[in-house]
Amino acid sequence: MSNNNRHEIFEKSVPMLVVGIIFAISLGGLVEITPLFFQKQTTEPVEGLKPYTALQMEGRDIFIREGCTVCHSQMIRPFRAETERYGHYSVAGESVWEHPFLWGSKRTGPDLARVGGRYSDDWHRAHLINPRDVVPESNMPAFPWLDTNVLTGELTGKKLALFRDHFGVPYTDADIQGAGEAVKGKTELDALVAYLQSLGHALK
Ligand code: HEC
Repeated sequence: MSNNNRHEIFEKSVPMLVVGIIFAISLGGLVEITPLFFQKQTTEPVEGLKPYTALQMEGRDIFIREGCTVCHSQMIRPFRAETERYGHYSVAGESVWEHPFLWGSKRTGPDLARVGGRYSDDWHRAHLINPRDVVPESNMPAFPWLDTNVLTGELTGKKLALFRDHFGVPYTDADIQGAGEAVKGKTELDALVAYLQSLGHALK
């Protein structure tokens, strides 16, 4: 070995190697991540993106509460096998109003990013009350209580207002004032199905 092999500094000293690795990964990370903060493509909604209606918003909260995310992702990766099965891969502009986003990575069940419109409302209702009624081999849990739990709408207006004021989702005053009435008396199942049917339509 020649004496001026400076790489030996890293090869012969574990602390220097650790410092070197941290430096390299940090630099690489910054180069990849920093531009995303400034790209319109990742910060602006895709054209035609619609905010969730009051009922869909309640459905989304039920989706989170019931742990649907434990088994279902909402992010189609740009691979042939995925786009053939689920449709166009997900783009960031579809999720700019999602707080928190529900992309996930666990797929015990299929990805749901574009499930809206794939089945009828009746199919979803039957499936959520007892998945085996429509998919005999399914091991998805049943959620029968959703059909009897009724929404009061007490907090719906506040939720919409929060999304407008903190996250810039373009709700109007009328949307917010009418939110409670729009969901009152509907069941949690109505809300969840409305949410599922809304997924994935923004990208043309
Ligand atoms: C323990 C894992 C698990 C949980 C939790 C779960 N699912 Fe599923 N889900 C599955 C599996 C497995 C399938 C595929 C079989 C079937 O269609 O029932 C599925 C299928 C689906 C489908 C049909 C998707 C398609 O493209 O065919 C929808 C819609 C769905 N689930 C919604 C939900 C919702 C909403 C919740 C929460 C209330 C939920 N799931 C919770 C495992 C789960």
